[in-house]
Amino acid sequence: PPRPLTDSFGRRITYLRLSVTDRCDLRCRYCMSEAMTFLPRKEVLTIEEMGAVADAFIARGVRKIRLTGGEPLVRRGIDELARHIGRHIETGALDEMTLTTNATRLSQHAETLFAAGVRRVNVSLDSLDPDNFRHITRTGNLSEVLDGIAAGKAAGLSIKINMVALKGANEDEIEPMIRWCGTHGFDLTLIETMPLGVVDEDRTDRYLPLDVVRRRLEARFTLDADDHRTGGPARYVSVRETGTRLGLITPLTNNFCEGCNRVRLTASGRLYMCLGHDDKMDLKQVLREGGPTALDAAIDAALLTKPLRHAFEIVDRNAAPAVGRHMSVTGG
Ligand code: GTP
Ligand code: 5AD
Ligand code: SF4
Repeated sequence: PPRPLTDSFGRRITYLRLSVTDRCDLRCRYCMSEAMTFLPRKEVLTIEEMGAVADAFIARGVRKIRLTGGEPLVRRGIDELARHIGRHIETGALDEMTLTTNATRLSQHAETLFAAGVRRVNVSLDSLDPDNFRHITRTGNLSEVLDGIAAGKAAGLSIKINMVALKGANEDEIEPMIRWCGTHGFDLTLIETMPLGVVDEDRTDRYLPLDVVRRRLEARFTLDADDHRTGGPARYVSVRETGTRLGLITPLTNNFCEGCNRVRLTASGRLYMCLGHDDKMDLKQVLREGGPTALDAAIDAALLTKPLRHAFEIVDRNAAPAVGRHMSVTGG
């Protein structure tokens, strides 16, 4: 049997987040600067190379793969990659293949993704107000996203909504979002904004701690304990009034690194051990110049550098972000 992937703190790595492109058709203000530059195409792994890396991780015991971006559905060949990885679900080697998407193109891909084995999709949606949605995303069209979500649901995908909680930008929309998700039967996860990459906004102004949000929501809803877990960082409660779950992702107010089970691969083939650190391993070079054994050894060596936890904090408006790269490089 293959050696399981373990870091130096004894944590088993069973979850790979695969960023298939750093590009995105939106420009969310908390995620990107208006003048983002993207990787030259020649730096990006081919779909076949991404498939090969996924195979290597599955052979070493990874049970869950999430396709991320940037926006994964702007990557040409994404359906083919999903089919490739999906074969491992059929053989029982992989439990789950999922996707985190902005849903602008989900209508065009939902049926293919379902056929490839995707069952759950996380959709990033920070506002249900068309004007505010356009403001936050700079370029987005809410109706496209709502169509994408409806198409995903119709294709049989279970949808979870991800909403980054932003002070003064969408905090008044959290309660309506909970009710809207309830109406559609979607779970909702709220996320604290993390300091990755320079954006044009001041993150200190936008940071909304979720312990504050939770106290506010408790005045409006009955939140019951719920031990539902998906293998990601969210901790859940169930909302009695809607019958759906509310997840909280709290890198700043309640650290969850102790149970970390994941690593991420960028579109350029770099393996990042932690969202909150710069340590990385260039697997592209190993993939192109070495064989499967070299790839395996490189992954083992990289895992030894996985840090215990991130050191995100949002306190000083003049401080540089904890990590220089943007979320779109590693897909979260
Ligand atoms: P589920 O499978 O539904 O649990 O998904 P997930 O929460 O693992 O993934 P998703 O792509 O929906 O991520 C939601 C948010 O959690 C994003 O803002 C991610 O950046 C953040 N996130 C995911 N994994 C980590 C992590 O290891 N560390 C930190 N700090 N944030 C993470
Ligand atoms: N902090 C927290 N979440 C972020 N996302 C993008 N940038 C940030 C940030 N700086 C979210 C997206 C998407 C997920 C992958 O990460 O909205 O839901
Ligand atoms: Fe794991 Fe790093 Fe995320 Fe913490 S911040 S859960 S250590 S990847």
